[in-house]
Amino acid sequence: MCGIIGYCGNKAAKPVLLDGLKRLEYRGYDSAGLAVADSNKLAVIRAVGKVCDLEKKGIARPLPGHYGIAHTRWATHGRPSEENAHPHCDCQEKIAIVHNGIIENYLDLKEELLAKKHVFKSETDSEVVAHLIEEYYSGDLEMAVLKTVQRLEGTFGIAAIHADNDSQVVIVKRGSPIIIGVGENEYFAASDANALLPYTQKIISLNDDEMAVLHAAGYHIKNLNNEFLQKEIEICENRDALADKKGFEHFMLKEIFEQPESIENAFRGRLIESEGVSKLGGLEPVKERLKSLKKIVIVSCGTSYYAGLLGRYIFESLSELHVEVEVASEFRYRKLKIDKNTAVLALSQSGETADTLAAIREAKRKGALILGIVNVVGSAIAQITDAGVYNHAGPEFGVASTKIYTSQLVILTLMALLIGRYQGISYAEGSEVIQAIKKLPRQVKKILTDMEHIKKIALDYAQYKDFLFIGRLFNYPTAMEGALKLKEISYIHAEGYPAGEMKHGPISLIDEQFPTVAIVSRDCTFEKMLSNIQEIKARSGRVLAVASQGSSRIGDICDDVIWVPETLPILQPVLNIIPLQLFAYFIARHKGCDIDKPRNLAKSVTVE
Ligand code: G6P
Repeated sequence: MCGIIGYCGNKAAKPVLLDGLKRLEYRGYDSAGLAVADSNKLAVIRAVGKVCDLEKKGIARPLPGHYGIAHTRWATHGRPSEENAHPHCDCQEKIAIVHNGIIENYLDLKEELLAKKHVFKSETDSEVVAHLIEEYYSGDLEMAVLKTVQRLEGTFGIAAIHADNDSQVVIVKRGSPIIIGVGENEYFAASDANALLPYTQKIISLNDDEMAVLHAAGYHIKNLNNEFLQKEIEICENRDALADKKGFEHFMLKEIFEQPESIENAFRGRLIESEGVSKLGGLEPVKERLKSLKKIVIVSCGTSYYAGLLGRYIFESLSELHVEVEVASEFRYRKLKIDKNTAVLALSQSGETADTLAAIREAKRKGALILGIVNVVGSAIAQITDAGVYNHAGPEFGVASTKIYTSQLVILTLMALLIGRYQGISYAEGSEVIQAIKKLPRQVKKILTDMEHIKKIALDYAQYKDFLFIGRLFNYPTAMEGALKLKEISYIHAEGYPAGEMKHGPISLIDEQFPTVAIVSRDCTFEKMLSNIQEIKARSGRVLAVASQGSSRIGDICDDVIWVPETLPILQPVLNIIPLQLFAYFIARHKGCDIDKPRNLAKSVTVE
């Protein structure tokens, strides 16, 4: 979602800001802009569309200034337009701000500022920030920002500059990430460390209600009580080398192909074979609480939510826990029974998703143990949890999540195994799970070698406008995730349904123009799935099956089949989703869609 970059140092700011914006593109946005200060004047350029459109607009303007701020905007208040793009300025056009998050009391503030004759140029909530700073400014930008944020309700990561405050970028954080990058005689602000590479690997994270002033000769950090703070510099991994498609046409395809490795990274060093159990260092501090745990509530969004749905089946199979799964945006409105014997488990690739953050804050207030499975080390969700497990899957740049989903499934299995072994599953059962986990990377590789076959089938199905995805038990969340992949990147309507529910509605849609993707495993639901497929065939529906090898009857009744290797039912979803990721990918590619940055979507959704 929205991205921020700020710079002050000895280089010209514009190229650094543009480069930083390009590195934030993967998060999803619909307009972009930058402001550079020079000789007591601000130059502001904004454009609807991509960063390259902004670059084109700015090409003729040399902008020699050495400090500035820039932003990619994902529209919330007001459509994507040049006026609504950030940076926003005050009436005198001396102050420029960029903002991520939502100012919840912006209407009240706007009314107050309008009464004081401020003139607004955009429909955004963010613009009030620039005008409030103007109200409070009397030669000291830092103090004006401090007074401003004390009036703001909601969430924000803000960066501000003033044309008269030479080489000063003031940043402040509440709820939306913003970090400091420390270079050699240059300092950066960014909503995401990706924007700063390759300039520096030295970063300083801010907590909520902290602010910093960056200037050419250094920086200082304060809390909102105006007290100085000392903070450690962290060295972040050089993700720049990883932000490379390595010869693949898209990040999504590269990430699909990274799954043998990311799955291995999810369990490497985390299996104790001799005891039939897993070892999760991140959960050690709460081991005693896990032993007496009665209930677990999984909260997450998007693909992470579908991983959560599978988590329910996995925990139910391996432990005695009562498991609930909630879409994070619904969680805080529900009256769920949560106490100290309940764990709330957040699943999140980015560790930034606003709804998931809000859900675990609420659960924390109610006394639950807060656990997380997060990919981005040190992210907001990772910081809030009491204990957790990192995916160690490397960065995921494709907006449609692939390798993190399968990694989440493996880690959920490890967690369930750990708790299950406290609660009664046998050594033999534990060992069986471990052996099956170890085989997964090889089995995924095998599916990937079938890519050409999957591509051929995908192209054959690319003509359809609607799809139904069906499955039972473990394959039901897989059906939903398969449908989500297709709609996210190809803009084709697709619905994921429990196969048993078909006769209660969706079957009325079936005809020769409405194909079904059926996910079938040789588990206790096999015969019932065959009947459901027969019902579709009887209504002239075309059926593509993703099925476990060896189920020959599937081949007889379905129009097309993609075979996958067989594993334990709880792990079968790890394998079954791979062909569905490729299926969606090749259809989207055939349609010429922007696969890594689908329209209207964002990689990190930082608004509720
Ligand atoms: C966005 C992304 C999805 C992702 C979801 C949850 O919608 O486009 O790919 O699954 O957010 O993100 P998280 O980072 O919390 O897993």
